[in-house]
Amino acid sequence: MSDNMMSRVQKCEAGEDLGSNGSANPLIGDIIAARFNRRDILKGALAVTAINTAIGGLALSAAPKALAATASFGFSEIEAGVDPNHHVAPGYKADILIRWGDAVLPDAPEFDPMAQTAQAQARQFGYNNDFVGYFPIDGSSDHGLLGVNHEYTSEYLMFPGIVAGQDRSEMTRELVDIEMMAHGGAVIEVKRENGAWRVVQNSKFARRITAATEMLLTGPAAGHDLLKTSADPSGTKVHGMINNCAGGKTPWGTWLAAEENFNGYFMGSGDGAHPNAAAFKRYGVPGNSYNWGAYDERFDIAREPNEANRFGWMVEIDPFEPGSTPKKRTAMGRLKHEGAETILNKDGRVVCYCGDDERFDYVYRFVSEGQFDAANREANRDLLDKGILSVARFDADGSLEWLPLVHGQGPLTAEKGFATQADVLINARLAADALGATKMDRPEDIQPNPKTGKVYVMLTNNTKRDAGQIDAANPRAENKFGHIIEMTPPDADHAAAKFTWEILVKCGDPSIAEVGATFSSATTKDGWFGMPDNCAIDAEGRLWIATDGNNVRATGRADGLWSLETEGELRGTSKLFFRVPLGAELCGPAFTPDGKTLFLSVQHPGEEDAEGNPGSFANPPTRWPDFKEGMPARPSIVVVTKDDGGPIGA
Ligand code: FEO
Ligand code: CA
Ligand code: CA
Ligand code: CA
Repeated sequence: MSDNMMSRVQKCEAGEDLGSNGSANPLIGDIIAARFNRRDILKGALAVTAINTAIGGLALSAAPKALAATASFGFSEIEAGVDPNHHVAPGYKADILIRWGDAVLPDAPEFDPMAQTAQAQARQFGYNNDFVGYFPIDGSSDHGLLGVNHEYTSEYLMFPGIVAGQDRSEMTRELVDIEMMAHGGAVIEVKRENGAWRVVQNSKFARRITAATEMLLTGPAAGHDLLKTSADPSGTKVHGMINNCAGGKTPWGTWLAAEENFNGYFMGSGDGAHPNAAAFKRYGVPGNSYNWGAYDERFDIAREPNEANRFGWMVEIDPFEPGSTPKKRTAMGRLKHEGAETILNKDGRVVCYCGDDERFDYVYRFVSEGQFDAANREANRDLLDKGILSVARFDADGSLEWLPLVHGQGPLTAEKGFATQADVLINARLAADALGATKMDRPEDIQPNPKTGKVYVMLTNNTKRDAGQIDAANPRAENKFGHIIEMTPPDADHAAAKFTWEILVKCGDPSIAEVGATFSSATTKDGWFGMPDNCAIDAEGRLWIATDGNNVRATGRADGLWSLETEGELRGTSKLFFRVPLGAELCGPAFTPDGKTLFLSVQHPGEEDAEGNPGSFANPPTRWPDFKEGMPARPSIVVVTKDDGGPIGA
């Protein structure tokens, strides 16, 4: 969600704004941006004395070679700007695949925004699509399933009569029931025939997951006292997933939906006597963004004090089994998970990278205990229930240490408030504070590249970091535009205890010296971006970046999808491929295995006009994608193909 308006309608960002990390973890304020971009140095951009001060021997000597070269991008970029429609590079088509309110389940009624009901919404495509994952059927790049997260609701864009900034109590029980059904996720079957993609109607795979869907809590924290409620004395059964932002896919073809700003759905007062009060403060519970607690006691912490502990998890869903129970994998920790990108390590273990998206929060990694079995899908079913969650400390010499969140190790003991591994996982932020993790500029998507072994960390922005708080990995005060870190595991071993890292690019307008952006000089006036958020690696191993927060005032451009070169002479060169309509951010992106189709997720179109005023149901700044009077703007999945049928971006 975008970073511009501060009103209660900015659900996602409201949580991110909290900056609730009050730990004393070092900000290394006396090391002045100690680790400069390695390529800046190689280009002679810095004085020798500065290099000697800043760089230990490790950074240069350990700079690893890529495992494989990646191809460069070949498309012609589009002009940066903002208008009511979307735009894609010449030679490509960008078609609308499915919109908020379109049928998912067979008997879904036709979408009527003036007469929406919870029952209809539960069968239709939900609101604010974020993550999209493509799951091939029989290995096909022309026929598969999409798993889509419905992150949150924009009440003032969805409902007639609800105005941005209005008091929460305007949200009636009927409207809250609709928005609970607009959350969660969707599974749709999609097929390409005669060059055109369509949603398969009456699919046996079709599924809506909502804030009411029954789920299981599994792994080390399942059944813990802090997870028990009056409705669930077992501490293992929970209804729904909320604020599922980005996500990922596992090697065995399941979908990981990451719960992000769950705190905003809780209201009420714990009177400071809550058994988990310190953690509530650290996670920003209650966030008071929604009115759900007025009608459902689960979301009122005074009446149901532990329900909030049952959100903020990683949810695993099998898209191929519509009757299966989604599982919240507690071994992966409780955070404001942005995403969950996995990679199969060379020893067969599964590694998942996760950002905790809040100002001054951390970068995490989960390594499974067991190994992936390619011959037996069932054997991988509960692989994510056992393993080691670690948090990153980025050191100024260019090394990175993964600090394990394991009970009994270091400060994670009963004396320090962590009685068991369950305590460590339920309160993972507190455990990571105790371990001395590096406070980052809002970690969003983290993407391993299977071709090169490198891992890319999107740090979207942090305007609250002051000059005394800069460190090597977060080198800009008032970081408005974010940056991207490249992490390198030794010998592509993603389970290794130590990596190296460097900054790939500092974002923003490179023509303004004070911004300090470091895109390559080959990047055009259209090619640079701010606020990296989601990202993807295509079939050729190339990096694509989706942004959240660009607009007329911030960067003079809409959010969109940019290519970013990571190898060779062009490293640090970005180009604009697709841009979203006014007020939207771009999520997704997901490629088919053949690289010939790209699915994009356009979230909250019409959220604001070009001046930054909030949109409304009655008078939206865009009615994308229908452009029909009376039809509000609709978050939608866009499918991009090349006119000649070739690979995207070639
Ligand atoms: Fe939902 Fe971190 O964006
Ligand atoms: Ca974001
Ligand atoms: Ca995001
Ligand atoms: Ca991604």
